[in-house]
Amino acid sequence: MILLGSLVLSACISGGPEWYPLSSLDLAPMRQGWGAPAKNMAVEGKPMTLGGKRLENGVGTHAPSTMWLELGGKAERFTATVGVDDEVMGKPGSVVFKVLADGLTLFDSGVMKPGMQPKQVDLDLTGLSKMLLIVTEAGDSIDYDHADWGDAKILATAAPSTMSAPAEDRVVLTPKPLPTPRINGAMAWGVRPGSPVLYTIAATGERPMEFRADGLPDGVTLDSRTGRLSGSIAKAGEYPVVLHAKNAKGVAERTLMLVCGETLALTPHMGWNSWYVWENHVTDASMRAAADAMASTGMIDHGYMYVNIDDCWAIKPGAKDPLLSGKERDERGRINANGRFPDMKGLTDYIHSKGLKAGIYTSPGKLTCAGFVGSYHHEAEDAARFAEWGFDFLKYDWCSYEDVSGGHGRAELRKPYELMATLLKDQPRDLVLNLCQYGMGNVWEWGKEVGGHSWRTAGDLGGSFEGIASAMFRDGFGLAERAAFSGPGGWNDPDYLLLGYISNWKGSTSPTPLTPNEQYTHVSLWCLLGAPLIFSGDMTRLDEFTLGLLTNDDLIDVDQDVLGRAGSRVAMDEATATEVWAKPLSDGSVALGLFNRGEFEGTVKARWIDVGLSGPRAVRDLWRQKDLGQFADGFEAVVPRHGCVVIRVK
Ligand code: GLA
Repeated sequence: MILLGSLVLSACISGGPEWYPLSSLDLAPMRQGWGAPAKNMAVEGKPMTLGGKRLENGVGTHAPSTMWLELGGKAERFTATVGVDDEVMGKPGSVVFKVLADGLTLFDSGVMKPGMQPKQVDLDLTGLSKMLLIVTEAGDSIDYDHADWGDAKILATAAPSTMSAPAEDRVVLTPKPLPTPRINGAMAWGVRPGSPVLYTIAATGERPMEFRADGLPDGVTLDSRTGRLSGSIAKAGEYPVVLHAKNAKGVAERTLMLVCGETLALTPHMGWNSWYVWENHVTDASMRAAADAMASTGMIDHGYMYVNIDDCWAIKPGAKDPLLSGKERDERGRINANGRFPDMKGLTDYIHSKGLKAGIYTSPGKLTCAGFVGSYHHEAEDAARFAEWGFDFLKYDWCSYEDVSGGHGRAELRKPYELMATLLKDQPRDLVLNLCQYGMGNVWEWGKEVGGHSWRTAGDLGGSFEGIASAMFRDGFGLAERAAFSGPGGWNDPDYLLLGYISNWKGSTSPTPLTPNEQYTHVSLWCLLGAPLIFSGDMTRLDEFTLGLLTNDDLIDVDQDVLGRAGSRVAMDEATATEVWAKPLSDGSVALGLFNRGEFEGTVKARWIDVGLSGPRAVRDLWRQKDLGQFADGFEAVVPRHGCVVIRVK
């Protein structure tokens, strides 16, 4: 018999089933998006209250939340009262409670909000072995998602136990690059007439390697040893350049389309950004180290090229730290960098000397998101300054522009971006413009029109460390309906690749909270979306697994495909949470992603008919870079929890 306070939870029949309150179990393996699981309390430690009624017993949690339980076939029943705790009454919280077991969904509460009447759960668990209690953020943010598993208890003949999510090995699927040459990365490159050309041929294979380029336009030369193109093109036009890479083991050839005109970013940007690893302590040294690592790890050989400083390089008004304080602008109104960036021109020269490109960040507001000086009323000086410093990329982050925008109408949303895009076009070098305003006003519908080359489609993917997986699933898969708005010259940007070591927002970095399969899904989805591939983890701590995720040339070819069509969902099975995505490619083949968003392993089938094909068709497994043979009418795979398989169908 279990006694809880004065509450008798079961009749005592020796050897018979007993009620085990959820709160009596070890909650350490439970995962949630904010705070810690609370026993017999709501998540903030206040009394648990649902629909005005106080509950003495239960587990208070916060979306997204998962709790795995081992039942071992010994459980009979699960009962609970679920809802959003009254402590967030009047706030915009919204969650969905789900109970799953052995691959089946036993309960789905639908969307629940503060103040709604709680729902009763009463489920038969006979014979089931693994149960999962989930609270999702119901497709919006996790704000105020205080969720209660009120009076939750399991009737069983042996005590159930909580457990961690099923362990996954960090299997490296990407084969090591061959010693023979292979030319990788973007095969279309836009440059404006007269702007400096800086393009490094990305090639894997044993060094030394000798490069050759046939059909170079006048004004552009190639360094045959480094594979770097430089110079400038005076006359607009399309210049197909046949690139060759030769080493002791063989030769590779690929055609690069140099397009001289007004369109930049013909394929999605590839590179690295400082935010999720260095946050507000980024320095000149961390940027140089990132550039060094991009070269030494070989990422540059797969097409990565931008090394971008995020927020926190300017002066911070009111800062105590002498390195961050000082004169915001010089007498000519030109913005100053803070003491952590003593020589911006020296820094971009350094990055360029590695064959890479440099990016910078500011806000149209008076202050950036982290409270550093922004460009408000100094847009022209700043555009000129960034160009003069030698930057090739600008992320323009709404932030405190909120205070001066005068609203969120299309005109107000467009205005600061239009202004900056126009100013950048006046500069004597090309700067790619990344709009960062979290998707407001359906930015994908007008981002390109105002001169943006990519636009963030949602809030910060890593705003909450524990919430990265659910944000990645929500924001990534959520782009299925927006595929038509992404393409050469302007890309949907669902934020950075949060892999390797990233900020845990507690003053240090931790390994990404994504499971190995979720990491494969993250990269696969971004490649199928044709999203920018901007890694934002620690460049100096890249292990074999993370590097494998970032440098699979078959996947990168899908992302960088010159057709530039974004992939989208072609089939879905709600019951198993599995789906198939397709991205048409320039050679007439199709990349297909077989995804399993569900909590249990499942079979996913991609049918040729769903993508307008008929069989038989040759299939290649892209992560394993392996041809699998011919398949008659489709391709079926067993896909792990939160995992994927990506194929190319010829
Ligand atoms: C916002 C952006 C992030 C990052 C930070 C910097 O939150 O969305 O990507 O640039 O600002 O403060």
